Amino acid sequence: MPDGPGLASSAAAVPLSGAQPAIAVSGLAKRVADASGELTILHEVDFTVQKAETLAIVGASGSGKSTLLGLLAGLDTPSAGRVLLDGVDIYALDEDGRAALRKEKLGFVFQSFQLLAHLTALENVMLPLELRGATHAREKAESMLERVGLASRLKHYPKYLSGGEQQRVALARAFVTEPPLLFADEPTGSLDAATGEAVIKLMFELNRQHGSTLVLVTHDQAMAARCGRTITIAAGRLL
Ligand SMILES: Nc1ncnc2c1ncn2[C@@H]1O[C@H](COP(=O)(O)OP(=O)(O)OP(=O)(O)O)[C@@H](O)[C@H]1O
Ligand SMILES: [Mg+2]
Repeated sequence: MPDGPGLASSAAAVPLSGAQPAIAVSGLAKRVADASGELTILHEVDFTVQKAETLAIVGASGSGKSTLLGLLAGLDTPSAGRVLLDGVDIYALDEDGRAALRKEKLGFVFQSFQLLAHLTALENVMLPLELRGATHAREKAESMLERVGLASRLKHYPKYLSGGEQQRVALARAFVTEPPLLFADEPTGSLDAATGEAVIKLMFELNRQHGSTLVLVTHDQAMAARCGRTITIAAGRLL
């Protein structure tokens, strides 16, 4: 993977401001209706993540990791409890308020990538910059795609990219704004060891250079070990 220009050359997102934790979760629960009545996917969980901390969320398949991450990012609605991002109670905001907060402060890498099918790799990565009105969006997006080893795939549409390539576009899209909060769901799940290592390096660089708070869902013990802290979730409960 070629080395691109430093991350410092990209458009920075709005940094976290106050003295409060980056993330404060209390009594957060998710229940859904199912055939037999009610299914609890996440039992009341409480934890705090300080600014610039790196946290791994680990646990078996189906334990509730993606559900928790989606709730932390304001992408889902909880059945109970609160999530404070940089002191802001995100579920006290309406959808538009949450979207604005995500745009300003959050990068999110979905387990299923969620690229926009009608946009090229480059356009997918330019989008969050354009939404912010950042200057030099094209150059910044190209440089980030170079950093994830996709300089020769800029004009490809997602359906013509391999799984690992799509994952790297999704990562580039989340990193390109240098968000103070970076949430990634299995960010290296579709990557070979060398490419995965380069992506991990990039994430921890964002953490070091910009004090980004990282929350990573992973099955990869090596990646979890590099995080400052690991929480384990089993059947919707924190251990
Ligand atoms: N909207 C929903 N309705 C019903 N069940 C759901 C819903 N969303 C998630 N679940 C169930 O909740 C459980 C937790 O799902 P989740 O996607 O959070 O798991 P995960 O820990 O991320 O698993 P994996 O490691 O396989 O990605 C699963 O059993 C899933 O089937
Ligand atoms: Mg998952």
